[in-house]
Amino acid sequence: MKLSRKSHCKINLLLNVVGQRADGFHELEMLMLPVPIFDRLDFELLGHGIELTCNQPGIPTDSSNLACQAAESFAAKAGVTGGVRVHLEKSIPAEGGLGGGSSNAAATLLALNELHDQPLGQATLHELAAELGSDVPFFMQSQAAVAKGRGEIIEPVAPLEALDGKSLLLVRPGFGVPTPWAYQGLAKFPGAKNRPLGQADELAKRLANSSLAEASAFYNSLEAPVFDKFPLLNLMKQHALANGAEAALLCGSGSTVFVICPDAATAQSLGQAIKSKFGQQSFVQTVPLPGDFPNTVA
Ligand code: C5P
Repeated sequence: MKLSRKSHCKINLLLNVVGQRADGFHELEMLMLPVPIFDRLDFELLGHGIELTCNQPGIPTDSSNLACQAAESFAAKAGVTGGVRVHLEKSIPAEGGLGGGSSNAAATLLALNELHDQPLGQATLHELAAELGSDVPFFMQSQAAVAKGRGEIIEPVAPLEALDGKSLLLVRPGFGVPTPWAYQGLAKFPGAKNRPLGQADELAKRLANSSLAEASAFYNSLEAPVFDKFPLLNLMKQHALANGAEAALLCGSGSTVFVICPDAATAQSLGQAIKSKFGQQSFVQTVPLPGDFPNTVA
């Protein structure tokens, strides 16, 4: 039995760290937007074992890959003894703050549940997703959502109509940022953790009412430690804001910076300008919003 699925990425329109938790994670509120850039995963049931291959040599294909972990935790929970072969075609850059690995894990849980005739219900799948990683539950669905707790409490929001017709520019430089390092770095920036709660809901409401909020309403606590270490990212953000962008922000823990532009022409010319001013970046892509999220492969 075979099945192919697409797995999208995300940006955080807001990532407000509101405290440190006893379990070592941080308490967050985020406004997360699905973004139509896709990896593709091909699944084939096997007699036994979990095999992963990937078109990109730099991506681990052992049990450190979240897709393998998802297949293992699905099999354990569903009591499945057979195995699976997964081939992953990566288009979403790794260590960019775009959630590609988390999205692959969510796609794997959903695909395996389908291939095995839905042995697990939604609540159990959500639990498995949350165990795999803080961002995985968001990818079990494809709507914009507010995420709370450590990221696993997902509240879908009304369509963010203010973004319709806008163009999103994503720029990832030639280096990545490890997420644990970015969160640890927050300790040196207490000011980045003392914004009041409620901003994710507030921004979702404003964007649903078709008025694009001022650029400062798009906020990410992790910019403080990440921009301190990698000032290039802030220079790219400020360049975009001074040259026609309506908003620009670090994606999650980075290293991608996203830029919301009024139209595709602005996004393309800003992408070109960033390349010529700051050097060739590893990934520069323009995406029309809001985008479609079919997870089936044509
Ligand atoms: O949950 P996930 O494995 O994706 O998190 C990666 C790392 O990011 C964690 O080990 C932790 O250091 C940090 N993190 C955090 N608080 C969160 C989410 C992630 O401190 N809410």
